[in-house]
Amino acid sequence: MMELYVISGVTGMTGNELARKLTASAAGNAKVIGFDNFFASSIETVKDLLGNGRFRFYEYDLNDAAQMEALRQIILAEREAYEKLIYINCAAVVHTEHFYHVERTFETNVLGMKSFLEQAIALNADVFINCSTSEVYSMHSWKEGGVSESDYLTLSHAEHSQRTSYATGKLLTEFFMKEAVTEQKIKGCSIRFANVYSKNELYPKHIIPHILRQLKENGQVELLENSKVNRRTFLHNEDSCAAVLALIHSETALDGSVYNVATDEEISIVDLVTLCAKKLGIAQPKITFRGYRESDPERRVLSTEKIRARTDWEPRIPLEQGIEMCLEEMTD
Ligand SMILES: NC(=O)c1ccc[n+]([C@@H]2O[C@H](COP(=O)([O-])OP(=O)(O)OC[C@H]3O[C@@H](n4cnc5c(N)ncnc54)[C@H](O)[C@@H]3O)[C@@H](O)[C@H]2O)c1
Repeated sequence: MMELYVISGVTGMTGNELARKLTASAAGNAKVIGFDNFFASSIETVKDLLGNGRFRFYEYDLNDAAQMEALRQIILAEREAYEKLIYINCAAVVHTEHFYHVERTFETNVLGMKSFLEQAIALNADVFINCSTSEVYSMHSWKEGGVSESDYLTLSHAEHSQRTSYATGKLLTEFFMKEAVTEQKIKGCSIRFANVYSKNELYPKHIIPHILRQLKENGQVELLENSKVNRRTFLHNEDSCAAVLALIHSETALDGSVYNVATDEEISIVDLVTLCAKKLGIAQPKITFRGYRESDPERRVLSTEKIRARTDWEPRIPLEQGIEMCLEEMTD
């Protein structure tokens, strides 16, 4: 079956790997039309795909109405040739530094998602994938066996800090997704990813590139005070996008509901530094602590029982291997 994929934020961590997987084999049946405004990425992440006839890239902004109309016209012209049209919304203002600023995240993450979903529906797309976030678990991010999608949420809010403004925006998109499916306008689902990392993050804002970069440059690492106690799981972007594809190809999964996508390989941030240092041949890295983030949960462990029950997805890249992959890519 010929499939046309439209991916926003295609040069980001999840988008670029999705495009690669979909267009990898010459005998494949998928074409990808992707766009990004390079807010947090660059063309470098898809440079290996630019000569591929089954990948087309546009430097477009999700919030630019004229550019989104141009995109609509492009898809409209191509639509007939494909049996299935699939929209995947990866574009978002993501990094933790932005979570605390509602004005920075709202337009792209909420209004942008809503318009993109409306475009997909208007073009009679078959599927819409909404990338949400495990941040919605906020202060209830951990329990024995992992928090599950049906658990009620305990949110920090404006009385505590602005951090959850990002999460509540993403939570709202889950309602848009659910309503569109319930009203039979489209099929789809929302995905709550936890701490995605990749070998080609442009800016070392996430914790793994931050640690690797500092160790490489100084042999020591500066962390937030929170890192004295925080523990996290980390999901390689090859695994995050494998989950997206598994959900797209499972009819029963596209019921408008929410899926956790994470690993259960939990590690303290201090042990993460030790692991990264070991990979760089540094025996005892010096760690200093400075700064503090309000409403930063100490642990985050998600149950992935639901996606495992409905698809054959499971994470395949252990953290140690993922760190080695990141290091191979760091040439300077
Ligand atoms: N990275 C994580 O740990 C994580 C965790 C939970 C959820 N998510 C969600 O997964 C999705 C994919 O994120 P990612 O990990 O690939 O992050 P990413 O930052 O690598 O990718 C997001 C991409 O969106 C692009 N973008 C931002 N604003 C845009 C705009 N207005 N128009 C067009 N492009 C725009 C950025 O340039 C970037 O390339 C996002 O919705 C994010 O919220 C990510």
